[in-house]
Amino acid sequence: MSAQSVNTTARLAVPHRQLKLSSWRAIRAAVFMLGAGAIHLTVMPQHLQEYPPFGAFFLLSALAQVGLAAAVLFSTQRLTAIVGAVGNLAIVALWVVSRTVGLPIGDDPWHPETVGIADAAATILELLAGWNLARLARRPWRPGRAWIRLRIRPALALVPGLLLTIVGVEAGAEGMPASVNMSAPIALGRAAVPLDGLKAAPGNEPLRSFTLVAELAQIGGQTAWTFNGTVPGPELRVSQGDRLRVTLVNHLPASTTIHWHGVRVSNAEDGVAGVTQDAVPPRVTYSYEFVASDAGTFWYHSHQDTANQLTRGLFGALVVEPRDGPLIDRDYPLIFHEFPGHSIISPGLQGLAEYVRQAFSGQRAAVNGTSGELHLQARPGERVRLRLIGALEGEQFGPLMMLGEPLELVALGTCYQIVAIDGGDLNAPQCIGPERLRLGIGQRYDLSFVMPSTGSVTIVDTRGQESVTVGSGPEPATLDLKRLPLFDPLRYGQPSPDPVLGHGFDVTYQVVLGEEGGIRHLQPELIHTINGKAAPMGTAYLVRQGQVVRLHIVNETEEFHTMHLHGHVLSVLDRDGGAPRGSPIHLDSLLVGPHESWDVAFVTDNPGLWMFHCHVLLHAAMGMSAMIAYEGVTTPYDVGARSGNQSE
Ligand code: C2O
Ligand code: CU
Repeated sequence: MSAQSVNTTARLAVPHRQLKLSSWRAIRAAVFMLGAGAIHLTVMPQHLQEYPPFGAFFLLSALAQVGLAAAVLFSTQRLTAIVGAVGNLAIVALWVVSRTVGLPIGDDPWHPETVGIADAAATILELLAGWNLARLARRPWRPGRAWIRLRIRPALALVPGLLLTIVGVEAGAEGMPASVNMSAPIALGRAAVPLDGLKAAPGNEPLRSFTLVAELAQIGGQTAWTFNGTVPGPELRVSQGDRLRVTLVNHLPASTTIHWHGVRVSNAEDGVAGVTQDAVPPRVTYSYEFVASDAGTFWYHSHQDTANQLTRGLFGALVVEPRDGPLIDRDYPLIFHEFPGHSIISPGLQGLAEYVRQAFSGQRAAVNGTSGELHLQARPGERVRLRLIGALEGEQFGPLMMLGEPLELVALGTCYQIVAIDGGDLNAPQCIGPERLRLGIGQRYDLSFVMPSTGSVTIVDTRGQESVTVGSGPEPATLDLKRLPLFDPLRYGQPSPDPVLGHGFDVTYQVVLGEEGGIRHLQPELIHTINGKAAPMGTAYLVRQGQVVRLHIVNETEEFHTMHLHGHVLSVLDRDGGAPRGSPIHLDSLLVGPHESWDVAFVTDNPGLWMFHCHVLLHAAMGMSAMIAYEGVTTPYDVGARSGNQSE
């Protein structure tokens, strides 16, 4: 039919020497080849990194496909069709071999490669092109005398080809660099410190063993990624000084890890894929061991493909009770989190589809797995400690925009003390309330109060999404929440000396939080940077053991960023030129508002390679991640497409 369609009435008078288009079949072959070529070009840089001859092969095949497409469109040579058909089918054959027995060359010879969306799309396009070219070769097609008429059916036949091209290019462009190693430089004449050796020394602390099974579970009609079948995962509660042994059993379809957020573990136990370990593959078991030396409110979560895995449900509370703390009658961790099914949206077309789906799927936030209202027990006169844990990202606007704005929570019905931030106790906290308390993702605030003789205490969010009721009896009257004063940690409690800040600083580093539109991982993105650099090629701050390091953090964006440092505690020095007037503040997750600047300091007493990143997961995924690297520490693990380790 295509051969006939060529000669259908020309609508436009075309001058004699103008290019002539061929039949619809030739057009299809050309479009399919161009699609395959485009996909090859997209993945080419990645292959070039892995194994240069593969990169060259992808470049050459893409060029050949473009050339053949042009030839088929504008010539009528039978030979063109034959060469095209043979060429495309040869590439398909090569693909089949590489995905079954493996190729004898490459960075991993004789091992079959995994089938990805991009290569599957390219292969289908090549098969379609090959088929059409083979048909053309059987009977030379007649030259087009003019622009052929647009006809619906043959034009529609192009649509699957175009879709495959878009899908393939999108998937191919997801690519990360093949592999990046985060090792710190080794000073001349010094020995390397292998990260694998940075473990807790054996000791006879009381041993607490836990097993966390990472597995899929149906929750609220959604498939959640869980620890032990629930979201959040089980609460781990230990005493200060205990030794934790946690066995991770991976029953997920993807590799994963566990990071102990806020706990000063030894570096080898930090759970960061590609830095402190390889992500644990499906059906494999891995074990973590560390001593909980600090009391406080912490949490644990996956640190592999974090933006995706954490929001799907892989997190839980970790409470370390003080050895000789105050008497508490009721102690409740409250994790504010994304309802399973509301995962973070990746940039790009897939993200757009996901965004549209989620926009119509209702409730997105929950507390301890409950969306709506959570009820907790307490009797009049009892002392209650609420451990608020922020695991909820800000509102997302489309696949690229997330301001990272914190939750704003208000406690009503009693006066309360804020006794700790991120696990660090505050000095002489006074009873306050009600105030708006900002809780960024990654942060923890511990509230303590005595239950009133009548009525309940409520925690409400100023957007009216989440609420928690403690005790029974009439609920406190609600107020105009948005008008309440904002709790300011820098003006709370009483001053006392901070041992970190007594002796000056050995080094001061700039931490400039920025963003710019650009191309990252081969696709357009609102790149989030620290000192102009995006992970995994991000900024590395080199430190040595025994230093006091000051970080001068400047937020040049309109967004909030919760800057989280692994393995250390930050002392707050200054915000926008003002020092704390109340209690010293020790934290690991610092909420930095738009255009604010903060100075913080920490002591380098825990050698390793430690992530320092924005905990707004989408920001980290778009590059806002740096490394505090102790000189000489080397890691055998890599981040990137080859290992599959993806810490963000
Ligand atoms: Cu809560 Cu780098 O982690
Ligand atoms: Cu951020």
